[in-house]
Amino acid sequence: MNTRKILMVGDIVGAAGRTVFQRTIESLRRDYGIDLVIVNGENSAHGIGITPRIVEFFKEHGVDVITSGNHIWHKKEIFPYLNTHQDLLRPANFPSGVPGVGVTIVNKQGVSYAIVNLLGRVFMRENIDCPFKALETILSYARDKAHIIIVDFHAEATSEKQALASHFDGRVTAVLGTHTHVQTADERLMPNGTAYITDVGMCGALNSLLGMESKPIIQRFLTQMPVKFSVEMASPYILNAVIIEADTATGHAQSIERLIITDNRAELEKECIEKTLGGW
Ligand SMILES: [Fe+2]
Ligand SMILES: [Fe+2]
Repeated sequence: MNTRKILMVGDIVGAAGRTVFQRTIESLRRDYGIDLVIVNGENSAHGIGITPRIVEFFKEHGVDVITSGNHIWHKKEIFPYLNTHQDLLRPANFPSGVPGVGVTIVNKQGVSYAIVNLLGRVFMRENIDCPFKALETILSYARDKAHIIIVDFHAEATSEKQALASHFDGRVTAVLGTHTHVQTADERLMPNGTAYITDVGMCGALNSLLGMESKPIIQRFLTQMPVKFSVEMASPYILNAVIIEADTATGHAQSIERLIITDNRAELEKECIEKTLGGW
């Protein structure tokens, strides 16, 4: 059987998330024999949104496709990039005509992959187009182009993520949840060959609130007043990801493995952020 390994990295939060990603990606690629790298970049610019320069950073580190979610529109400078490139996805179930695409086909070393980004509706965007119908439409043309189909379902509710995965079991390689920033321990192969996890998790500061500084957010809970959120930069940092092994002939997943990497190298933190990532 011919297989390929796909690494999917959870929401990368600001410079802390980019740092742990930068420190880890080469060893991950080497140790696990990764063929395709996908990251969720919706929080990679100061915790909210993404910029062309950060896209460039991900590409320099060998990322094949960047997915996103509800925060994709936050940095306006990304709009022209979305309009002219297909390696950064916005959710496919936004109304037609908005910048960017929600699905892309990548051809790499003789294998074609379709990567799809969808946004949930439950507790999130009730008025967005139906993610189930959007994926059905995408599959009607993508299945001829790629056997391996990876779906980043950026959603809040576990039920919605499980329902989408069950409905498409056997028709996509993997349904991988993102958005909650908390990795779930429910990774499994579904009966018809789709790999599933409710949430891949995040990359960023471990002692934080979903990657952001805790104090202002606690203040908001206590006072109900608006506060400015900032990315938590104190180490240790964590990288959350999953690795899917997929059969190139059937597109079915053979395995799904969850990764939690903790990076305690505080001594490198300042140098790494200032020299490589400083100021953006
Ligand atoms: Fe996020
Ligand atoms: Fe999100």
